[in-house]
Amino acid sequence: MKAIVLVGGEGTRLRPLTLTTPKPLLPIANIPFLERQLSWLASFGVTEAVLSMGYLPDAFKEHFVGDRFGDMRLRYAVEEKPLGTAGGIRFAAEGITERVVVCNGDVLTALDLGAMVAFHEDRKAQASIYLCRVDDPSMFGVVPTRDDGEVIGFIEKPPRDQAPTNWINAGTYVLEPEVFDRIPTRVNVSIERETFPRMVETRGALYAFPYDGYWLDIGTPEKYLQAHTDILRGDLGEPPTQSATEASPGIWVEAGATIDPSANLHAPVLIGAGATIGAGATIDNSVVGPNANIADRAILRRAVVHRNARVGEHSEVADSVVGAEAQIESSTSCVDVTLVGAQARVLRGTQVSAGRVAAEGQ
Ligand code: GDD
Ligand code: MG
Repeated sequence: MKAIVLVGGEGTRLRPLTLTTPKPLLPIANIPFLERQLSWLASFGVTEAVLSMGYLPDAFKEHFVGDRFGDMRLRYAVEEKPLGTAGGIRFAAEGITERVVVCNGDVLTALDLGAMVAFHEDRKAQASIYLCRVDDPSMFGVVPTRDDGEVIGFIEKPPRDQAPTNWINAGTYVLEPEVFDRIPTRVNVSIERETFPRMVETRGALYAFPYDGYWLDIGTPEKYLQAHTDILRGDLGEPPTQSATEASPGIWVEAGATIDPSANLHAPVLIGAGATIGAGATIDNSVVGPNANIADRAILRRAVVHRNARVGEHSEVADSVVGAEAQIESSTSCVDVTLVGAQARVLRGTQVSAGRVAAEGQ
């Protein structure tokens, strides 16, 4: 089976992290999000994926050397200007004449894709949409259905009091090639606002598969942090990374990490390969990236520190993200959903709350 993964968004809500690294390549518990998604697709027999993109395309091509990910073949469909979700699919599907799975490139899920494809075949649908249930559907595509799953409406991001159901578009579709023909070429088209709402008018064409397992859109700072806690806790039903070992319950350590015996580790924690944790440091519900350095008496609480970053002595990072190679100097604090971009510096003694700190020139 082939897949198209939509990775063309600019990830504006995660700036400045996404100024240098596109959202799908940001690490989630030390593994680039897209690698997690491609492994998930591969486990259901997907052998070829087209990455549908426009923003920072070279970052993807440089990441996947040889255009392969394991046994999966990768192709790149680079848009000159953003074509939207449906326009992007149409462009990426050039030359494909068979069924495809389409995924938003920012959704972490335990969906049973095999069961969804079986549902799609059983209904003889042209398109099937995976639905999950959320408390506040107003941030999503809201999808009311008949009892047999046939879609009767698709309302993208309605006002909260006007959502007819809590079941929302979870960002994975199974599409037959007829659907591509419904999308005009080379113009910006939204699958959520145009293609799906129109398909509702054709009886028997569009179905939805409800699945109540783990699901999270990682596209906001708060959800990006939450994804780490969830993966560390085992909510996806697997260890956080294949190479980490569980030193004690909920404390995961990768090869070559150096942890001072006086450091305080409170589960869940993941310490990346080659990272250093100094004397008296506190690491609580946090992820430390490969080769990162957490200095003596530094405190991390619900923090995510990317590779090669440094958090200086007596500094605190709480509910916040530190980008790759960033320098948090000593005696600083970054709290309350602060994002520090790759290679940025937070100067000694500075207090940042709910801030966005980018490297100079970004
Ligand atoms: N190729 C391409 N071109 N991809 C794009 C473009 C584009 O012009 N615009 C957005 N994308 C990609 C993004 O990279 C992302 O993977 C996906 O399309 C969805 O875009 P988001 O910006 O993340 O949309 P959203 O999260 O607000 O809403 C979407 O996802 C929700 C579930 O998380 C919609 O599909 C909603 O209906 C859905 O409920
Ligand atoms: Mg999204």
